[in-house]
Amino acid sequence: MFNNLDISAFSKKLADYANFIVCRCSGQVAGILAFYMNNGHFVYVTFVCTLKEFQRLSIFSNMLHKLENLAQEKGYEKIRLEVAKENHSAQQVYLHKDFSVVEQGDNSLFMEKWIGKHGESA
Ligand SMILES: CC(C)(COP(=O)(O)OP(=O)(O)OC[C@H]1O[C@@H](n2cnc3c(N)ncnc32)[C@H](O)[C@@H]1OP(=O)(O)O)[C@@H](O)C(=O)NCCC(=O)NCCS
Repeated sequence: MFNNLDISAFSKKLADYANFIVCRCSGQVAGILAFYMNNGHFVYVTFVCTLKEFQRLSIFSNMLHKLENLAQEKGYEKIRLEVAKENHSAQQVYLHKDFSVVEQGDNSLFMEKWIGKHGESA
């Protein structure tokens, strides 16, 4: 997931601009979803992770649901994310949650979920 990533620059950008949804189970952080809402066209999920021992317990689903509500309140109609081509399990999760592939990079796929209230856009 972090191949060729400049962690220091990534962390600074997160600290400066990202919003976070944190899911706790019995006081312990079980999942984190970081997103940007500074683009007029879509909400961009820049990081999401559920701790291994909490995976497949709907943590991501709950964080996504929260994000969708928040995004809809602010008038956004799409959620976008990037996933490594080799990360097949995350892709399966996103497809299952109604994301579809909209663009391909060299090593990654861009996926979007339509959350608008009035039918899917063209
Ligand atoms: C991808 C990830 C965030 C999913 O989190 P999670 O909390 O386990 O997901 P959920 O339990 O909410 O599952 C969401 C749906 O996907 C399904 N699902 C979960 N893991 C799956 C898998 N490996 N393969 C296929 N489907 C899967 C679940 O059954 C669930 O379906 P439902 O809504 O019908 O119940 C988690 O696996 C993770 O942190 N992976 C490592 C980090 C990573 O790859 N992050 C993404 C980088 S782009």
